[in-house]
Amino acid sequence: MGPVLVTGGAGYIGSHVTRLLAERGEQVVVVDNLSTGFKEAVIGAELVEGNVGDAGLIRSLIEDHGIRSVLHFAAHIVVPESVADPLKYYGNNTANTRQLLDVCQTTGIEHFIFSSTAAVYGSPSGGIASEHSPLAPINPYGWSKLMSEQMLKDLAAASPLRHVTLRYFNVAGAQPNGLLGQSTPQATHLIKVAAEHVVGKRDGLAIFGTDYETPDGTCIRDYIHVEDLALAHLAGLDYLREGKPSATLNCGYGRGFSVKEVLDVVAKLADKPLTIEMTGRRAGDPAVLVSKADAIRDTLDWQPRFQDIETIVSSALAWEAKLAQQPMR
Ligand code: UFG
Repeated sequence: MGPVLVTGGAGYIGSHVTRLLAERGEQVVVVDNLSTGFKEAVIGAELVEGNVGDAGLIRSLIEDHGIRSVLHFAAHIVVPESVADPLKYYGNNTANTRQLLDVCQTTGIEHFIFSSTAAVYGSPSGGIASEHSPLAPINPYGWSKLMSEQMLKDLAAASPLRHVTLRYFNVAGAQPNGLLGQSTPQATHLIKVAAEHVVGKRDGLAIFGTDYETPDGTCIRDYIHVEDLALAHLAGLDYLREGKPSATLNCGYGRGFSVKEVLDVVAKLADKPLTIEMTGRRAGDPAVLVSKADAIRDTLDWQPRFQDIETIVSSALAWEAKLAQQPMR
């Protein structure tokens, strides 16, 4: 099997995957610069503080531990920030991924799992994106990830490395037993923001746009539970270890909820009304973004386990309540 390297393993999604890998007995080395991640979130693995773009560090970690598989999460992920500071995104997400791939090539890494995003589709026609939909990002974040996808695909064609690229839709929720969750400072994601409001960390929240061409006028997204997403990474790794060919797969459930529907669920589970301001549209938001979700189920040994929206929201609320008592370090 061989030990695995997880970049960004102290972050939201990487920490869930790290814990699941450790739980099933795998040896995991995490490299994370702790810019948005937390030491405490690394459960069951060795944490090395450092940058993915530090070729010397990555090379010695791979060689010293005999690593054969890399899961690459480390990235900046805030869409509006990518619009304001594109080079930050092309630097950390694209240029650093190129550095990492270079080291992977020269050290003979066999399996690479890449965190990509639904943002590579931009605004797909009809709001539904299959893996074959046109790739047309509408912000630098999406481009920074698409460029990395392309490098990975080209490298896989030219070398023995094989990859599973996972295009995440809207990731939300927390580890079902409350061990891990999203701790990102200055979070912008809807369910996280709403949960922060519920625990009193924010006075209220805004709905960005109520005049979209959707049944209730608010945007529709495909929310996937972080634990299901994490399990998809383990299934992707198993798939590559079985010798199967590279694959690029959507990670969503194939069904959407509007912003209003999500906030109704939050209010119901929190058992209190939310303070909501209706504001104008946020730049770069597609009206509807839902995955065509069959390919992942047909390709990997993976089935959703936590897809109920109430399950997603209640785990996020439980985590936020815990975080309010015990901030992460
Ligand atoms: N929203 C609000 N109020 C908030 C936060 C969000 O109304 O306080 C709305 C947004 O306008 C959007 C929906 O809730 O309509 C979801 O927004 P998020 O910020 O939670 O997530 P995004 O859909 O913008 O982002 C997600 C991923 C990105 C990815 C993008 C692709 O988190 O990584 O989908 O469109 F790039």
